[in-house]
Amino acid sequence: MRVQVNARNRGYDFDARPGEKLLHAGLRSGIDLPYECSTGTCGTCKATLVSGRVTDAWREAPGKKYLKPGTAELLMCQCVAEEPVMLEVPKFVHPMDPGTCAPQANAGTLRRARRLTSDVIAFTLALDAPCDFDAGQFVLLAPVGVSGFRAYSMCNFARGARELEFVVKRKPEGRFSDWLFSAEREGERLQVFGPLGKAVFDPALRKNILCIAGGSGLAGMMSILARAAAEGYFERQSGWLYFGVRALRDAFFLEELGAYARRFAGKLGITLALSEEDVPASAQREHPQFAFARGLVHEVAKREMAGKYQGLRAYVAGPPPAVDAAIRMLLLDARLTTDNIRYDKYS
Ligand SMILES: Cc1cc2nc3c(=O)[nH]c(=O)nc-3n(C[C@H](O)[C@H](O)[C@H](O)COP(=O)(O)OP(=O)(O)OC[C@H]3O[C@@H](n4cnc5c(N)ncnc54)[C@H](O)[C@@H]3O)c2cc1C
Ligand code: FES
Repeated sequence: MRVQVNARNRGYDFDARPGEKLLHAGLRSGIDLPYECSTGTCGTCKATLVSGRVTDAWREAPGKKYLKPGTAELLMCQCVAEEPVMLEVPKFVHPMDPGTCAPQANAGTLRRARRLTSDVIAFTLALDAPCDFDAGQFVLLAPVGVSGFRAYSMCNFARGARELEFVVKRKPEGRFSDWLFSAEREGERLQVFGPLGKAVFDPALRKNILCIAGGSGLAGMMSILARAAAEGYFERQSGWLYFGVRALRDAFFLEELGAYARRFAGKLGITLALSEEDVPASAQREHPQFAFARGLVHEVAKREMAGKYQGLRAYVAGPPPAVDAAIRMLLLDARLTTDNIRYDKYS
């Protein structure tokens, strides 16, 4: 189906496959259409339908609160063209830069699901076709029988990856997380679309990096650390990771993080921020490679990062309130510019 998008700076034409979301078709064609969550919550992908007919795959999408009622506005990440359509996008839109890992439809088989804490599961997705992605990106996953895609960040990093690694935090009454937590899922098939996301780390950056992760927001940071370690990034630059959890028992990947902290001692500082318990007396003894502090993760980072913001790029991920608080701190206290704050809200 032919889709024409008129953006503020120029027009684009591309084809959408039957059933394919308008956003996915445009991104797959190398057009950098605006999006953030790509799953119907943030409203960033809004456009106006000028002509043609679409179906809306999720009428109750929370992102619709950002659309003007009574107008032809729609969410490109939720709508599918039923005939040739023309859209107006109220933003500047550019072709993707050469070298960008353009998202594609793919599929994979779920392997090695393992429980990391009472409400976090890690699993591996063995892909049908290899996939390039940047450290810090995410994909959309959809198991058979659960309507709609969910966004999950990769924890690993590899070019031409045959496997993607994920951690999923259980969401109360969440349909994907219930599906994952309620039964043995080895061998289940998942649809995949991606990679997506702009909170990416490129070793050519040559800046110190600050990673602030709330809970499963650690996923993308693990990918960033994997890439930085592989490229010898901490030989030249410094890094700090603040990992916020409610209590020490909610923390995961401590072995992997400990190995990074030992390998890059003096260049990579890793702090666990506990928001709902005092730091247990045994914590420092059992994990001498980490620092520990009581408090919300952005507050702990604010206290400890004072004076270290020069030449810094920050990455933030986790639940939206934690990400919003960290962004406020980075703008107002650290005085970072917006292009040096990259984030994913796990909405
Ligand atoms: C960029 C990004 C990266 C993320 N990375 C991670 C991660 O690495 N680990 C992690 O634990 N969490 C991550 N999240 C959060 C995760 O995507 C949500 O917690 C997850 O969507 C919850 O899904 P659920 O089915 O369990 O909950 P539900 O409440 O059932 O569904 C939540 C989401 O699913 C989608 N959805 C629901 N119903 C429909 C429908 N009918 N049609 C279409 N879509 C529907 C919507 O996006 C909705 O917000 C990320 C979120 C984003 C935006
Ligand atoms: S990108 Fe479509 S609602 Fe967020």
